[in-house]
Amino acid sequence: MAGNGVFADILDGDVYKYYSDGEWKKSSSGKSVSIVNPTTRKTQYKVQACTQEEVNKVMETAKVAQKSWAKTPLWKRAELLHKAAAILKDHKAPIAECLVKEIAKPAKDAVTEVVRSGDLVSYCAEEGVRILGEGKYLVSDSFPGNERTKYCLTSKIPLGVVLAIPPFNYPVNLAVSKIAPALIAGNSLVLKPPTQGAVSALHMVHCFHLAGFPKGLISCVTGKGSEIGDFLTMHPSVNCISFTGGDTGIAISKKAGMIPLQMELGGKDACIVLEDADLDLVAGNIIKGGFSYSGQRCTAVKVVLVMESVADALVEKVNAKLSKLTVGPPEENCDITPVVSESSANFIEGLVMDAKEKGATFCQAYKREGNLIWPLLLDNVRPDMRIAWEEPFGPVLPVIRINSVEEGIHHCNASNFGLQGCVFTKDINKAILISDTMETGTVQINSAPARGPDHFPFQGLKDSGIGSQGITNSINMMTKIKSTVINLPSPSYTMG
Ligand code: G3H
Repeated sequence: MAGNGVFADILDGDVYKYYSDGEWKKSSSGKSVSIVNPTTRKTQYKVQACTQEEVNKVMETAKVAQKSWAKTPLWKRAELLHKAAAILKDHKAPIAECLVKEIAKPAKDAVTEVVRSGDLVSYCAEEGVRILGEGKYLVSDSFPGNERTKYCLTSKIPLGVVLAIPPFNYPVNLAVSKIAPALIAGNSLVLKPPTQGAVSALHMVHCFHLAGFPKGLISCVTGKGSEIGDFLTMHPSVNCISFTGGDTGIAISKKAGMIPLQMELGGKDACIVLEDADLDLVAGNIIKGGFSYSGQRCTAVKVVLVMESVADALVEKVNAKLSKLTVGPPEENCDITPVVSESSANFIEGLVMDAKEKGATFCQAYKREGNLIWPLLLDNVRPDMRIAWEEPFGPVLPVIRINSVEEGIHHCNASNFGLQGCVFTKDINKAILISDTMETGTVQINSAPARGPDHFPFQGLKDSGIGSQGITNSINMMTKIKSTVINLPSPSYTMG
């Protein structure tokens, strides 16, 4: 059970504690932040409202802990990460329970998120041991005008304190995708979880605590963005920020100092369907890609661009599958569960009403109860409708009928987002040409967009992000290259 057994330490009365200097603590603010269950719309949990002084203290200990962690052998860092991964997986049930209550993730998907996170941590430990154990050796005489009098040795060094800010939709998985690379690379880590998802994240952090990481190396502060948000992201002790979320990321990147940023800020992933596509395959992927976790994924299919000649057939197939989706509470493993908050549901409704006024075809009647929105396919959407461009982050999917592939590519590229996209066709040559033309970080051929497997590079163009994620890229991003140059008094050539 959440907050029980090995997790009893993290709870004080009905308020979850924050984690600093290797201990679970109550905030001196005496205040808490409530977390509303999206299904019941009642307060489910409470977390500490940390103060700026507490953030300062966390940063101080993170800086000290990092110095000795950087001197900890790589194999030992990996060993601790493997231990944390195993503990995380052992406690998948209570953590999944929090995901169900805080973010209304369907029960089965909640368990999958925790298991996937354990696997990610283990893979990261292994990858880190491999790639951080290697450097480069360069000689000077490959550059014109030089003799071989200099040997350059390069290695990857940690950045210092990494600030990780994951989003509500994967508060565990997108936290460990930042924590594990930071730690294996020799950094310390300060986590600011999303309010909705904070309790799942606190349970996950406790698994790292139980694994025995040194005091102060990992910290987790909770609280109001208005009180500690900017304070954290602009803190002089932070040497790197890894953020996943919405527009806030744009504001963070404008305010952050001269530090490396890793940002993933959403998408409007297009699904381009050609005339020769396998329509059953497309329909299945539209359902999976557009409606899993009720469309609350940055990589969800967010607009279907289908050739007019096959549009009727595709819409019919999608509607048939859509009618089979179950709608209800996450505890019952329904496919469509309440969206994360009332404001989110209102925003989605706004997009739907705009499309209605402008004449979109409703394939189903619009239905909403509280935060629960029934899945909806909107056909004959036109570019003057908001839903053609904005991300609903909900179970509502627009279909735009196109008369040429160029029209589809044009729509995809006119978006301010550029995360992923997908193209369905049996002609691989055409698919490659289209993929090359789409201005997105990834194009999936004959499958829905997705971040995983978690070691694949994951990046967005334009407003979708900065830098690339995926295990290897994240480890590299959280390090810097350091060179040592050996200068010889006279040229020396091997076997010369
Ligand atoms: O919501 C953003 C996530 O990075 C998407 O991850 O493709 O595994 O659902 P996913």
